[in-house]
Amino acid sequence: MNKEILSEQTIQLKVDSLLAKMTLDEKIGQMTQVRHFEDISEEDIATKYIGSIIHTQGPLPGDTPAEWQAKFNRLQRKALSTRLGIPLIFGVDAIHGQNTFEGATIFPHNIGMGATGNAELVEKAARITAIESRATGFNWVFSPCIAIPYNEKWGRVYEAFSESTPLTQELAKASVLGLQGAFLHDSTSVMATAKHFIGDGATDYGHEGGETHMDMVAVRERLLPPYITVVNEGVSSVMASFNSLNGIPMHAHKELITDILKGEMGFEGIVVSDWKGYSRFGENAVINAGVDMIMAVEGDFEMYQEGLKRGVESGEVPMSRIDDAVSRILHKKFEMGVFDQPFATGGLIPKIGTEAHRKVAKQAVRESLVLLKNNNVLPISPSDKKIVVVGEHANNSGLQSGGWTVNWQGSTENYKGASTILDGIRNIAQGTVLYDENASGEDFDADAAIIVVGETPYAESFGDIGGEMNLYQLHLTAEHQRYVDHYANQGVKTVVVLISGRPLVTTKQIQQSDAFVAAWLPGSEGDAVAEVLFGVYNFKGKLPHSWPKSEEDYQGKYGPNLWDESITPLFPFWFGLTY
Ligand code: BGC
Repeated sequence: MNKEILSEQTIQLKVDSLLAKMTLDEKIGQMTQVRHFEDISEEDIATKYIGSIIHTQGPLPGDTPAEWQAKFNRLQRKALSTRLGIPLIFGVDAIHGQNTFEGATIFPHNIGMGATGNAELVEKAARITAIESRATGFNWVFSPCIAIPYNEKWGRVYEAFSESTPLTQELAKASVLGLQGAFLHDSTSVMATAKHFIGDGATDYGHEGGETHMDMVAVRERLLPPYITVVNEGVSSVMASFNSLNGIPMHAHKELITDILKGEMGFEGIVVSDWKGYSRFGENAVINAGVDMIMAVEGDFEMYQEGLKRGVESGEVPMSRIDDAVSRILHKKFEMGVFDQPFATGGLIPKIGTEAHRKVAKQAVRESLVLLKNNNVLPISPSDKKIVVVGEHANNSGLQSGGWTVNWQGSTENYKGASTILDGIRNIAQGTVLYDENASGEDFDADAAIIVVGETPYAESFGDIGGEMNLYQLHLTAEHQRYVDHYANQGVKTVVVLISGRPLVTTKQIQQSDAFVAAWLPGSEGDAVAEVLFGVYNFKGKLPHSWPKSEEDYQGKYGPNLWDESITPLFPFWFGLTY
């Protein structure tokens, strides 16, 4: 106990003494996060006193993990060359594994982790994500997303664990514990970020960054508990959300960020803005609301630093606010130990995508599968003479992994280190396995047809249903419906495996098929799906969302979950069959 208090005191002394030496420019620099390309020249790191680097979509830092580390270490040397030598911290969107590095272990998206209901497994997966993130040069991740989605039309439903507040609380805690490890200064720990604060999943019609209308009683009851839990677990950062809450942009919501999160809840870490949060949500109003670090990307960098400086000089932004922000950032840097160990080292590189890591991801895939119907067709017998596998999703690790995989919006191609569902089926089946990608074959004498259909990958905004882009639907495409019809209409025993980032309206396909499995977005270990289909393991997963029966249920503001009790789902929350 004493030791803990002492070290906390020591950190505070170091922070105070460093802060006392800093000029306004140096302070604003610490409050700035930029990409390692385009936003800045490498010289800017030193001359503009940059505090943090983000890697997300865009040019890679290199080809190999060693090259990624080398690039970040080069930038770090620039930061250390400054008068006060304050090191950078490096952040990445490691949403389901270190998904920006091809070859890393990719876990099921959080919706699948929600279906496992297994906190211990979520913690293990987060531990691995931390290790593989450190191995590629990062000490900060922008996860977990602890939204409570209230409308399946939102294109980020899969980033969240569940529609259930208590389940989200439990798994959010596990995720933060796994990412941050026993101590933040451990070489395998990363700073975790709870996001997006708050109301991201509860916007009208599920529009990304839209309007959330919810009174404070409901916000406190439904949305805040997971934040309270992770703040109590010492989460290092919280990201402000793109949405407004009752008309006020969350980035400028002083009551929620300063009074409730930092005040009432006692959050001592860093509040980081989301993408271009400064220019999009009211400039200095964002800082005054309590945001400590700005993602000053895509042209925002100079206008942000200059705008904030003018704000402080004119008295619009109090110096006490700047000092609070910088103290929080420095505090985390000391806690992380980056002053003592500023450089990424090669030791963890061999851990990327190892068998041991993939074994945990395979367990997550198996436990995430939810069996919604089974008329004695599953488990499939390995000794069946002929099995037909249908659908491009069956043989494509990009399609099975969803957004935030290799690319921001995901990939439609196979990627390094991953296996597919078809690979798994071929590993286990002893008879003939035919792959009929587009349901054009005529092997109607097959013992079973495994039809893998679903959504193509998407991420934020692009994945919203309705709204500006409207590229997706709450049901299967006509082409995928045809795949199911092709075999089901011929009386072949049909197993439908749905790959999706949210529950879809699949009432008809559930009726048509002999068995129906919600597989979510399994990630790199697609072959593990087959282990459950063939009964090597039993089904364990339960629905983390209630399952809609019709699209009409989604006309209004909220889906058929805890909010609108007049809507009856097809399957209730936590439904799931077993053998
Ligand atoms: C997303 C965040 C993400 C950030 C950085 C934003 O557009 O909303 O979740 O962490 O980009 O890539």
